[in-house]
Amino acid sequence: MAKVDHDLCIGCGLCAEICPEVFVMNDDGLADVIEGSSCADAGCCEEAADSCPTNAISL
Ligand code: F3S
Repeated sequence: MAKVDHDLCIGCGLCAEICPEVFVMNDDGLADVIEGSSCADAGCCEEAADSCPTNAISL
């Protein structure tokens, strides 16, 4: 299960762009993991995590 550290996320939005099956921007402008989503199914979590400028995503 992917996790976004909200203390690190700066809301750049890359993860939601790269992997919209798993990551979504919330009302605070930070990324959240979509409940019930699956990195195994989506297959894009690693790319999203690698692209995050602040390494806020852990897998
Ligand atoms: Fe935040 Fe990183 Fe995504 S900064 S919006 S978790 S790419």
